[in-house]
Amino acid sequence: MHVNEENGVVREHELNRVLGPWQLIALGIGIIIGAGIFVSTGKVAAEYAGPGVMIAYLIAGFGCALAGLCYAEFSAMIPVAGSAYSYSFATFGKFAAWIIGWDLILEYLAAGSAVAVAWAGYFNGLMADIGIHVPEHLSAPPLKWEGGLNLVASGATINLPATGLVLGLTALLVIGIRASANFNSAMVILKLAVVLLVIGFGLQYINMDNLTPFIPPAVDSEHFGWGGIVRASGVVFFAYIGFDCVSAAAAEAKNPQRNVPLGILGSLGICTILYLLMCIVMTGVTHYSNLGVSKPVSVAVQAMGANMDWLVKLTNFGATLGLGTVVLGLLLGQSRIFYAMSRDGMLPPLFSKVHPRFRTPYISTVLIGGVAAVLAAFLPEDLLIELVAIGTLTAFVLVCLAVIVLRKTHPNVPRPFKVPLMPWVPIGGMAVCAFMIYGLPLDTKLRWVVWFVLGMGAYFLYARKNAKTPSYALKRD
Ligand code: ALA
Repeated sequence: MHVNEENGVVREHELNRVLGPWQLIALGIGIIIGAGIFVSTGKVAAEYAGPGVMIAYLIAGFGCALAGLCYAEFSAMIPVAGSAYSYSFATFGKFAAWIIGWDLILEYLAAGSAVAVAWAGYFNGLMADIGIHVPEHLSAPPLKWEGGLNLVASGATINLPATGLVLGLTALLVIGIRASANFNSAMVILKLAVVLLVIGFGLQYINMDNLTPFIPPAVDSEHFGWGGIVRASGVVFFAYIGFDCVSAAAAEAKNPQRNVPLGILGSLGICTILYLLMCIVMTGVTHYSNLGVSKPVSVAVQAMGANMDWLVKLTNFGATLGLGTVVLGLLLGQSRIFYAMSRDGMLPPLFSKVHPRFRTPYISTVLIGGVAAVLAAFLPEDLLIELVAIGTLTAFVLVCLAVIVLRKTHPNVPRPFKVPLMPWVPIGGMAVCAFMIYGLPLDTKLRWVVWFVLGMGAYFLYARKNAKTPSYALKRD
């Protein structure tokens, strides 16, 4: 491992530095726009928030923008693979780093599988459009979540499309970052074209009756009314996840001090605007109660009229490719975090082995891909999505806190990008993220506690003894 210092910051030179600003923004958009907007928006509007889902998106987007600024400061200051995990190791030490790393494993693993499952829904629609009917028992999750701790058999045997997707993308990631980033950029253009067409046509078909009342009256504390919007914000938060992956690719970026903050904030800003417009269109062209299905965007386009059939087909096509890029980005982010954790001794050294020819951390990529493929084969996406949200929100709270602490303990370290309005931005970020955690149901919180306890076991059995202070750890001023 070659590590050296450049412009006062520590850099690694083992992975290829090939990603420029547009590729980073594309990487961000490629991961951000996915199952959240294409699937969850519809379900959340139908079950919790009605047209008020837009307010939930505003709350979640605001929290992510604040956390995104904190990520940008860190990624410019410590541009190494590993994202929030590495930042916390650099600032707080191994225990906090382990907690965040363990959270991120949950985030990326469960998110990759969740999006693969959502992808299978649109993929089956696309196949039906061209006359191929995939047998249902081979293309749906065998388990169904009925809320709380109730997980029941759905009648299906295995979700083959979702598993196949994860395995195929894993192979692509082993071959190399350059091929993956180029593939990603092409797919992002297609996905954006679909989203813009749905918005462009949809705005002409809005019926104000569908948007009134904007916040349907509360049924209970989490269905409709303001309680429903709080509940919804914790779920739609999932739609923004991915901007943090841009920072996970910092070790592969050219001029990371400038380009990584650009990638994070640029992709987040573009997606927020698109999401708000998509919410108005989806809940404006049809009544929100029609959107609780596995392909809500297609349902919304169908509601525009029979002459929009071409756009329904294009939506199925764009969503299929678009959701594929999300899974790719999440698997990429996860393998890099595993790589970083192993490099620091938190995980066995096997996981930081770089392939001699492809220069990619192939063992961690294959392991992550294998586990994600198994989860995607059996579990439903809604269960996975909430688990992802709570894991990620916890990591965001800690990143915001770390920015404040570091400004005090290391005031003189060069910060090519600085969070404005200190300390209000990170404090606001922590408050909004904590608010969204509060909105999530108790059983999701319990599942997270179980994950946390398992993590503590692994920490005391392995990581605590083997972790070594990384070369990028900051010395006290
Ligand atoms: N933000 C990503 C999605 O919505 C994870 O699929």
